[in-house]
Amino acid sequence: MLSRLPASSLKGLRSLAEARPSAARSAAQTASRVRFSSSSASSSAVKSFLDSRATLASATLLTVGSIAWYTHLYGSLPFLGEVHANSPAEEGLHPPHYPWSHGGLLDSFDHSSIRRGYQVYREVCAACHSLDRIAWRNLVGVSHSVDEVKAMAEEVEYEDGPNDQGEMFQRPGKLSDYMPPPYPNEEAARASNQGALPPDLSLIVKARHGGPDYIFALLTGYRDAPAGFEIRDGMNYNPYFPGNAISMARVLFDGLVEYEDGTPATTSQMAKDVVTFLNWAAEPEHDERKKAGLKAVILFSALTAISLYVKRYKWAPIKSRKIIYNPPADKGHH
Ligand code: HEC
Repeated sequence: MLSRLPASSLKGLRSLAEARPSAARSAAQTASRVRFSSSSASSSAVKSFLDSRATLASATLLTVGSIAWYTHLYGSLPFLGEVHANSPAEEGLHPPHYPWSHGGLLDSFDHSSIRRGYQVYREVCAACHSLDRIAWRNLVGVSHSVDEVKAMAEEVEYEDGPNDQGEMFQRPGKLSDYMPPPYPNEEAARASNQGALPPDLSLIVKARHGGPDYIFALLTGYRDAPAGFEIRDGMNYNPYFPGNAISMARVLFDGLVEYEDGTPATTSQMAKDVVTFLNWAAEPEHDERKKAGLKAVILFSALTAISLYVKRYKWAPIKSRKIIYNPPADKGHH
């Protein structure tokens, strides 16, 4: 395009380019000279301030102070490996990773396992552990039919009221009632368990590092304490529990429950089922969440593809156009 411009205009351009640098240079020189002369006094003050010991000391103090404040707030410094005085025994043995049937991105819960797990919870764990956040109705369509759940709820007596006379009364359970707790209050729970409180199991899978792997390892990990490990009376050795001494004794033994679907009730089978059940209790939205996630991935990839196509379509004329400069005919200079 440039070559089509008249030669005279090019010549003008070149002379401009030659003239400019020198002018610019001299202007910059004057400016810098001016700045030096006016700022020499204050720059020496700055220099002496930076060199002084007071500055050095206060900068050090500021740094140390902010690091101390940060570690006070957050416990450790970022990007530094943590050093613990704890031994692995105090932390608890790290549980192995088990291949849960619901572990994958697109896997739902194994619902017959939830059903068996509920049976284990009801027949074993419910003697000591509450499940406060689960109502009878939550089981409907998940592990049991509505009639089964109604029948199970009716077997439990709930206090209700007051009635017309202002008195509380007992009535059979309904779908909307929550799972009955084994103890009326924390004190009663501790009194029956040598001072230890059996935690509520509704969110236990979420509340423990290692989640389902940890609970499974804990339930199946009871063994004799190694030589030299002192264990208090009423405590039990479990390498997966932090501190290794837990007040819950081993509760699962082969053949403890009788599954209605004929699955052999080994210790590990019951542990797997009850952990699947507790995992469901901690995240009942699990199956829906994964389904919604899959839908979102499909939808958003389609939208991305469409918007990329529309972008290319709209930009095509702009990107493929050619701009040509047609100079006005140079008349009158022949
Ligand atoms: C005889 C009463 C009893 C029974 C039955 C029982 N537990 Fe426990 N459980 C306890 C006590 C007490 C604790 C508190 C232990 C402690 O803090 O030392 C506990 C603690 C736990 C913990 C928490 C461990 C931790 O990391 O803090 C889990 C999980 C647990 N039990 C699961 C179960 C499951 C699942 C069952 C049924 C298979 C069950 N328990 C049956 C009494 C019981």
